[in-house]
Amino acid sequence: MIPRLDLAPGQSLSRLAYGMWRIGDDPDTSARHIQAKIEACLAQGITTLDQADIYGDYSAEALLGTCLRQAPGLRGQVEIVTKCDIVAPCGRYADRRVKYYDTSPAHITASVDQSLAAMRTGMIDLLLLHRPDPLMDHHATGAALDALVASGKVRAVGVSNFRPHDTALLQSGMRARLAANQIELSLTAHEAFTNGDLAYLQERGILAMAWSPLGGGALVSGGAPRLQEALTSVAGRSGAETSAVALAWLLAHPAGILPVFGTNRLDRIKSVHSAFDVGMDRQTWFELYTAALGREVA
Ligand SMILES: NC(=O)c1ccc[n+]([C@@H]2O[C@H](COP(=O)([O-])OP(=O)(O)OC[C@H]3O[C@@H](n4cnc5c(N)ncnc54)[C@H](OP(=O)(O)O)[C@@H]3O)[C@@H](O)[C@H]2O)c1
Repeated sequence: MIPRLDLAPGQSLSRLAYGMWRIGDDPDTSARHIQAKIEACLAQGITTLDQADIYGDYSAEALLGTCLRQAPGLRGQVEIVTKCDIVAPCGRYADRRVKYYDTSPAHITASVDQSLAAMRTGMIDLLLLHRPDPLMDHHATGAALDALVASGKVRAVGVSNFRPHDTALLQSGMRARLAANQIELSLTAHEAFTNGDLAYLQERGILAMAWSPLGGGALVSGGAPRLQEALTSVAGRSGAETSAVALAWLLAHPAGILPVFGTNRLDRIKSVHSAFDVGMDRQTWFELYTAALGREVA
């Protein structure tokens, strides 16, 4: 069983989360197949599912909801993370002229109600604002998030793709603690390790969730040849898959990063726990980081 990470007092997430951005791309979107994927996660102790209202053009949450209706015992075994604030001209917003962000209280509150209905659940374990909104009124947005927590519809709140100044601004307008920030973090997107973003989360005790930990597949399917070569070399020495090495690189960081992986393949889901068996000493970590930078560290 994989370890867990504390999110808030009395609330924890599994150390890996299963991302559902791509579930609608699977040729099999049946409730039965989604249940098989979730059960493959649960067998390893992966209990955290990552969603967003916009996934699948606003349809992925409903796919999960159909599964949870057919297998009602599942809801009590998982934590649901979902996100809101991106409005794209598709699905229920097909009439919009432009893609935009909306952190207004009316939008966030309505989005949460739509997510709860789509996923057929009464509570979201962790609600994230998906992208920083240049028009965010931090007092109004913060008050709306506080009210959602007080209502019991949302257990904890956080952000995604926020820089430290965005996070600090929102936190200053609310009482509930921002518990997590989901950012792009991988061997192909490693700026947060040095630009202060991750250091800020560590200093504040905010959980860092890493989206696209395999670079959206680029790290394991030919999209980043230099990195793939380094991963193959480490994988060969450790008897591991390259995907496990890429996850282990994130898991080794003292921030306690929570990778959100996104495969649709059952065999890949079933073996994802092997990332915890990969030894990642300092030299190996830097060997991969050197390949990511494309040069020796200074
Ligand atoms: N907060 C945000 O703004 C944000 C943005 C993007 C994503 N996310 C979250 O992060 C999650 C993960 O994102 P992601 O799907 O890009 O993650 P990822 O795990 O980096 O990439 C998954 C992709 O890699 C492929 N893949 C996985 N293992 C492979 C292997 N061994 N060989 C070849 N291809 C492989 C998968 O294809 P197969 O299905 O064929 O295995 C899939 O297309 C999303 O589901 C979502 O929950 C959040």
